[in-house]
Amino acid sequence: MTANPAFRLFDLGTNSALTAAIAEELEVPVAPVELKTFADNEIYERIVDSVRGIDVYVVAPVSAPVNDSLMKLLIFIDAAKRTSAKSINLIVPYLAYGRSDRKAKPREPIAGRLVANLLQDRGIKRLMTMDLHTSQLQGFFDIPVDHLLAMPVQAAYYEQQGLTGGDIVVVSSDANSLKMVQRLAEVLDAPWAIVDQDRDPNIEPAVTGHVAGKHAIIVDDMIDTGQTMVKAAKAVQQAGATKIDALATHALLSGSAAKDLQDSVLDRVVVTNTVAVPENARFDKLVTLSVAALFAEGIQHVIHHDSLAPVLLSPAAREEAGQ
Ligand code: R5P
Repeated sequence: MTANPAFRLFDLGTNSALTAAIAEELEVPVAPVELKTFADNEIYERIVDSVRGIDVYVVAPVSAPVNDSLMKLLIFIDAAKRTSAKSINLIVPYLAYGRSDRKAKPREPIAGRLVANLLQDRGIKRLMTMDLHTSQLQGFFDIPVDHLLAMPVQAAYYEQQGLTGGDIVVVSSDANSLKMVQRLAEVLDAPWAIVDQDRDPNIEPAVTGHVAGKHAIIVDDMIDTGQTMVKAAKAVQQAGATKIDALATHALLSGSAAKDLQDSVLDRVVVTNTVAVPENARFDKLVTLSVAALFAEGIQHVIHHDSLAPVLLSPAAREEAGQ
């Protein structure tokens, strides 16, 4: 391990296992932060060692409890700023509030924009994140946003099992995930389909596209309550799919999601470790892929001022490009 690297990597306890895995890839220690919560839930933080004139990287998904996680990050930025860190670089594997990205009804806020402002107004240098709810969210920031994709590890997972080509079908759980679906389908050389899922619970979801006799991989950016996936899986099963996976980057798994997904017609629920899944939300069908190497590589590219393009490629495309 590099005892005194040119930058410091910090963790705020929101997904310490991921930070540790990124640190291991980078061969650097995780720098200590004193963190405590007062009786009334007020958060106290102190950066233990000096970071004066040093580039600071902090790994902290804004995940449940989202408002506490966001506040932890804001307080860390304030501490780093006041102690004259050279730059503050946020590694936010999951950024909450992305679902509030426009005014869909009168008198609605755009909370995603508010969160972007709260973060960037404190003077951060960059944000590295993964699979934002929509990639246009990058436009809420006036600083560089390195938008990584979980696709390379997801594609590798399916390629390693020989699940490519016409025997599988990549399915969009609803209209929102279509871009992710088309990208993965292209990489896996597979067809794609879409579940037309009206949010009205009285309307049965319908599948557009051919899924009969195929191993269906239903894709979404996140699984929150799990209901979108459960309903999509039922529709895909009724349309004749033989095996059904749910594939999502962010495993929020709120409420009874674990039980509902385990009891559903899904065969597997494949997620990544952008968000820490507590012990009581784990279940037999859950498969977790690690994105630590992608983030470590992303950080390395930023430090060395290299293009991030290779980090966004599928394993096959990288091999072909010799990268
Ligand atoms: C919605 O636009 C998102 O992409 C997800 O489909 C949604 O947030 C999933 O939520 P849940 O798991 O609660 O159905």
